[in-house]
Amino acid sequence: MKKYTTIILVGIILVLAVILAGVLLYLKNQPPQERAVIQPLVTIQPLEADSSLWGENYPNEYSSLIQTANNNTPTTYGGSAQNSYLLQDPRLVILFMGYSFSKDYNQPRGHQNTLIDIRATKRVTATTHATCYSCKSSDNPGLWAQIGMEAFDSKLFSDMTPAINNPIGCSNCHEAGTMRLVITNPAVDAAFKAQGIDWRTFTRQQMRSAVCANCHVTYYFAGDSKVLTVPWDNGTRVENIIQTEDSVNFSDWIYPDTGTPIMKARHPDYELFTADSTHYKAGVSCADCHMPYIREGALKYSSHDIMSPLLDPQLACGQCHTDVNVVLARVSVIQDTIYQAKIGTEDALIDTITAIKAAAAKPDSDPALLDEARNLHRHAQYMWDFISSSNSMGFHNPDEALRILRNATDLARQAQMKAAQAAGDPSLLTTGVYYTIDPPPTPVP
Ligand code: HEC
Ligand code: HEC
Ligand code: HEC
Ligand code: HEC
Repeated sequence: MKKYTTIILVGIILVLAVILAGVLLYLKNQPPQERAVIQPLVTIQPLEADSSLWGENYPNEYSSLIQTANNNTPTTYGGSAQNSYLLQDPRLVILFMGYSFSKDYNQPRGHQNTLIDIRATKRVTATTHATCYSCKSSDNPGLWAQIGMEAFDSKLFSDMTPAINNPIGCSNCHEAGTMRLVITNPAVDAAFKAQGIDWRTFTRQQMRSAVCANCHVTYYFAGDSKVLTVPWDNGTRVENIIQTEDSVNFSDWIYPDTGTPIMKARHPDYELFTADSTHYKAGVSCADCHMPYIREGALKYSSHDIMSPLLDPQLACGQCHTDVNVVLARVSVIQDTIYQAKIGTEDALIDTITAIKAAAAKPDSDPALLDEARNLHRHAQYMWDFISSSNSMGFHNPDEALRILRNATDLARQAQMKAAQAAGDPSLLTTGVYYTIDPPPTPVP
């Protein structure tokens, strides 16, 4: 009898130990609590623009966000140094001829630098609209709520400057009080809606990418008020976006001497990543790589020091990949391949521009064929820019990046042939001076 009692007791203890181990393991793998502070020290007003107030409740998130001001380390194709894309690749000066991007176009830096950088760029002039502040400040959500996006965008940049005092901050991504991740940009909210999508039904993991879509998406300025518009009505693939901008005859500028109405793509990071990339399909989010968890003793929080994951790959990739060196070698191959494909497309586009210019200058060129050439140039250049302006040099979605660049090169060469046909001049089929593939740019220390 005594023997059985011992066995039962030992059994019970074993079962309890297993349950305890399970609970501990479960807790260890749980993401940090959304409310790290059970009793918030200060009450944050809705849409509060001052991140330092939120920081009183969440000091780790705040101090890591502030850290983005100091990052300045370059990587082969990215990093936080403010290198000039135009100096790295002078083809861009030709491709953006006649538009502000040919004057000044730098690599992005950390989130704390947004106001310094937008106010310093030569792209902003006396006639620039306030729309350019849309993705630069934690004051925006409050101002949009107060005066509405259309009124905001119809003002001049310089008129809004006194009201904009804070770089990107908590109110761009979080709802005060609940700390939920939210879409705060009305243009992005409208763009999801246009596709019949309600982001409020997104899972937490989906929101860990969607919150970046507040800004890391392509857009255009609609009408004289320059209203921020995200062209997702027909979907988020590059072909869908071209269809949408074609349907409203939108163009950012007319290319000098070719007469092509060009549309500029802007960092479609969310669109490219969600176009069935390997990581997206595996359920990985932007925050998984760019906001890895930091452990400090018993505490665990998401790093808000958002930067290139290649600056700390052990932290960013090591949580899922056991051999970080193997994946880093893959990143190198992917980025080099896409860089070279991109340069090939640029050379094709420059040949296209040269040919259309020559054909347009000839009085007896066939106007219908010339227009066909311009239309092909318009589409080829947008497709190229979709990859060129998106961040990560194709790493976010290598297959899709190569598919798009291949089609862009094809369309550019078709445009060149149409121009030669329009002019009746086969000499326009020759290729130009840029037709060499450079080695990747050397990072400037
Ligand atoms: C699987 C990991 C991973 C995911 C997921 C991911 N990225 Fe990246 N991201 C990278 C890598 C790697 C780079 C390249 C950095 C470099 O070249 O220095 C990069 C570069 C960037 C850059 C440019 C940074 C720089 O230093 O040049 C931005 C901006 C960016 N990503 C935003 C996003 C957004 C927005 C999402 C979600 C839509 C996302 N990323 C999803 C890994 C990831
Ligand atoms: C660019 C968007 C962005 C900004 C700006 C931002 N956050 Fe976050 N924050 C996130 C994301 C993404 C997560 C991960 C949420 C999740 O996993 O559900 C997060 C998580 C958190 C959490 C939950 C605990 C944790 O660390 O994972 C807290 C608290 C938090 N943020 C506070 C802040 C505060 C305070 C600020 C301003 C100082 C801020 N955040 C600014 C995107 C942002
Ligand atoms: C409110 C707009 C906004 C939101 C939301 C936002 N970004 Fe950014 N992001 C920017 C802008 C603008 C820049 C460029 C800042 C500059 O160059 O001054 C930038 C730069 C970056 C960089 C480059 C940093 C570096 O050091 O080179 C990365 C990486 C990045 N963002 C990732 C993300 C990720 C991931 C998310 C979502 C968790 C996100 N961003 C959400 C606007 C935003
Ligand atoms: C949250 C988990 C997670 C993180 C973080 C993560 N990955 Fe991955 N990665 C995956 C998964 C899952 C796959 C797909 C594996 C498969 O299907 O075999 C993958 C696949 C890859 C592949 C192969 C892709 C292909 O199409 O061949 C590369 C390269 C890669 N990851 C690089 C990186 C790099 C670099 C980082 C850090 C910047 C990173 N990953 C961060 C989960 C992650």
